[in-house]
Amino acid sequence: MQADLQAIILAAGKSTRFNTGNTKMLEKICGQELILYPTTILERMNIPTTLVVGYQKELIKNTIEKKHNNRIHFVEQEKQQGTGNALLCTKELWEKNDILIMNGDMPLVTQDILQALIKKHYNTNATISFVTAHNGDPSGSSYGRIIKTDSLIKIIEARELSQSEIQEHCCINAGIYLVKKQFLEKNSNELKRNELSNEFHITDLVKMASEKGELVATTSAPFDYIRGINTYQELWAAEQVKRAELIKYWMNKGVRFSVPQNVHIDLTVEIGAGTFIGCGVHILNDSKIGNNCNIDAFCLLNNAVLEDNATVHSHCVIKNATVSKHATVGPFAHLRDKTVIGQNSTIGNFVEIKNSTIGSHTKAKHLAYLGDAQVGSHVNIGAGTITCNHNGTTKQKTTIEDHAYIGCNNSLVAPVIIHKSAYTAAGSVITDTVPADALAIARSRQINKEGYATKIRNKNQCDEKKGNNKKDVPSSDTLSFIGAVRTSNDRTALE
Ligand code: UD1
Ligand code: CA
Repeated sequence: MQADLQAIILAAGKSTRFNTGNTKMLEKICGQELILYPTTILERMNIPTTLVVGYQKELIKNTIEKKHNNRIHFVEQEKQQGTGNALLCTKELWEKNDILIMNGDMPLVTQDILQALIKKHYNTNATISFVTAHNGDPSGSSYGRIIKTDSLIKIIEARELSQSEIQEHCCINAGIYLVKKQFLEKNSNELKRNELSNEFHITDLVKMASEKGELVATTSAPFDYIRGINTYQELWAAEQVKRAELIKYWMNKGVRFSVPQNVHIDLTVEIGAGTFIGCGVHILNDSKIGNNCNIDAFCLLNNAVLEDNATVHSHCVIKNATVSKHATVGPFAHLRDKTVIGQNSTIGNFVEIKNSTIGSHTKAKHLAYLGDAQVGSHVNIGAGTITCNHNGTTKQKTTIEDHAYIGCNNSLVAPVIIHKSAYTAAGSVITDTVPADALAIARSRQINKEGYATKIRNKNQCDEKKGNNKKDVPSSDTLSFIGAVRTSNDRTALE
C-alpha cells in the first residue's frame, strides 16, 4: 500500500519536562527504550526511516544501532528549535512522494494506527493527513488541540488556550503526520517561529495547507495508543497500559496471575502455558519461563530461564541463571552469573549460588554459598556450607562429584575436589582433595573438661557476695530488677 513512502522520527528534543538532564528517548517501558517502539514498527512495515537526533545523540544512536544495525539513517538537529525545525533538518533526504513524520516519544502507537493513516491519505489524495484522538481531560495541558471551522483546520497547543477553550476542544493532535513531499518542498520554509514558544511548530503545516485550500485529512485513534511521554508521570501511565496489554496477552496464552496489577513483565519475556505467577513478581529482559512453572510472590527474575515445571518460592532473585525441569528454588534464594540448577534439584532458603553448575537431584536446602562450583548429581550440601572461592586475588573452582555428602558448616577452600560419594564431617574446613568414598574430617577435636562449669559458677557467686562484681554477665540482682520492671506493666519503663 505504501509504495512510495519514507518515515522521519523526531527525537532530538532536550526532554526538559523530565527534569533528569537525560534524553527521555532512552527511558524504558517494559524493558525497552521509548525510541525503539516506533523504529521497530516502521521497520516491520518496511518503511525506510530517518531519525532526527540532537540532544545526547551518541547515546540514542548506540541504542538504535544495537537493535537496527545501520538500517536507520540519522540527521542532526544542532539547535533544538522545535518540531518544525527538526523536520526541516531532514530536507536533503526527502526522496519519496509522501513523508510520514512522527514524534519519537509515543511508544504505544500501533501498526494499525499508521496503516489507517496511510490508507486514508491515499484514498483521499490528501496533501496532509494526521492522527487525532479524543482527550476529555481538561487538566492535560500538553497536546495540541484541533480547532476546526467550516473552511479551516488548525492545531493550537493547549498552553496557548484558555481552560474553557481546552475543555471545548477535546480532539488532540497525536503527533503523526503524512505529508506530500511536493507540499513540504514548496511550503516548509514558510514556517514561522511561534510567538509563545519561540520555536518552529510542525503543526503549523496543517493550518498552512488548510489556508491554501489543500485537502487535509484526519484519522482518529484511541488516546491510550498515542500517548506522548513528556514527564515521569506520563511514562508511568503509558507503562501501565503496556503492562496491562502484556499481562492480557499472557493470560490468553494460559498463564495465571494471582495479582496481575502488580506484576511486571518486560516485552521480551516468554511464559509457557499453565504457569502461575504470584503477587509482585518481576520478570525482566529475556527471561524464558516454561510450562507449568510456579513463581511465588515477590520474586525478581532477570534474564532467567525456568524450564517446565520449575518452582520458585517467594522472595528469590534469579539473574542470568537457569532452573531446570522440576527443580525447586527458595524461598529467599539468590542465583546469578550463569548458574544452572539441574533437574529435580532443591535449592532452599538463604542459599546463594554464583557461576556454578548443579547437577540433578542435588540438595542445598539451607544457608549456603556456592560460587564457581561444579556440583554433581545426588549431592547433599549441608546447611552453612561455603565455597571459599576467592583467595584475595583470583577466583578458584570447587568440584563436588556425584553422590558426595557435604556436612553442615563446611568451608570448602578452593581449588578443591571432593570426589564421588565422599563425605565431609560437619564443621570441616576442607583444603585438600577428598578421595572417592572417603570421609574427610577437618576440624579440631572436642575436649570435655569435667566439672569445669560448676567451678566457674561457684567462683561467680563467691565474687558477688564479696561485692567484687566486675563480670560482663548481669548479676542476679540486675536480673531481678529487670524482672520487676517487666512485671510492672509500665510501658515507658520497658522502652
Ligand atoms: C507535540 C505537538 C502537539 C502534539 C504532541 C503529541 C508540536 C509543536 N506540538 O507537542 O501538538 O499534541 O506533540 O504528543 O509539535 N523534537 C525535536 N526537536 C525539537 C523539539 C522536539 O526533535 O527541537 C522532538 C522531541 O524529541 C519529541 C517530538 O519532537 O520526540 C515532539 O516534541 P515534544 O516537545 O514532545 O512536543 P509536545 O510538546 O509533546
Ligand atoms: Ca511530546
